[in-house]
Amino acid sequence: MKSYEKLLEGNKLWAEEITQLDPEFFKRLEALQQPNFLWIGCSDSRVPANEITNTRPGEIFVHRNVANLVVNTDLNLLTVLHYSVEILKVKHIIICGHYGCGGVKAAMTNNDYGIINKWLLNIKDIYRLHKTEVDTLGTEQERYDRMVELNVREQVINLAKTSLIQKCWKEEQRPFLHGWVYSLGNGILKSILEMPPGSAIDPVYQFENL
Ligand code: CO
Repeated sequence: MKSYEKLLEGNKLWAEEITQLDPEFFKRLEALQQPNFLWIGCSDSRVPANEITNTRPGEIFVHRNVANLVVNTDLNLLTVLHYSVEILKVKHIIICGHYGCGGVKAAMTNNDYGIINKWLLNIKDIYRLHKTEVDTLGTEQERYDRMVELNVREQVINLAKTSLIQKCWKEEQRPFLHGWVYSLGNGILKSILEMPPGSAIDPVYQFENL
């Protein structure tokens, strides 16, 4: 069997199994998606949103990119964010990073990765912002791990910087923002930062007259 054929075979088995357990499952989802969560995670194949949270299709709206970044000029991310907040009306947004993230590691080097440099620049900026703290850590591993956590933290703050989130916080007291880090080593998610609706943000980022 060719490698990709395994996927199509796997799909048949999966669909049969679900239909046996819950005959209406696909009909229900066909009619409507009502996820409570938006997940912004890393593209890394080892960190699939549904599997690691033990959830099923229909429960999480997902956006993934290299190193789970929230970049304010990224039309793709902004479209997903806008759609999930305004139309799907999600109650929670989760930024999920992971230890051992290749994107964060690459950003900490001086290697030239071509066009990827431009994306990684966002992570280099975070390192510069937290250089004093990161550089006190003794080992390279500790510095990478801390950078993964700080990256998640800054991406949650990037969400809170948007007028979209600030407006929704004010008018509808949602969404709750979460920053999590996943361990490839034991499969466990750890909370790094929580920003409930109305959380304080640096005044320079606050919009008036929303
Ligand atoms: Co990654």
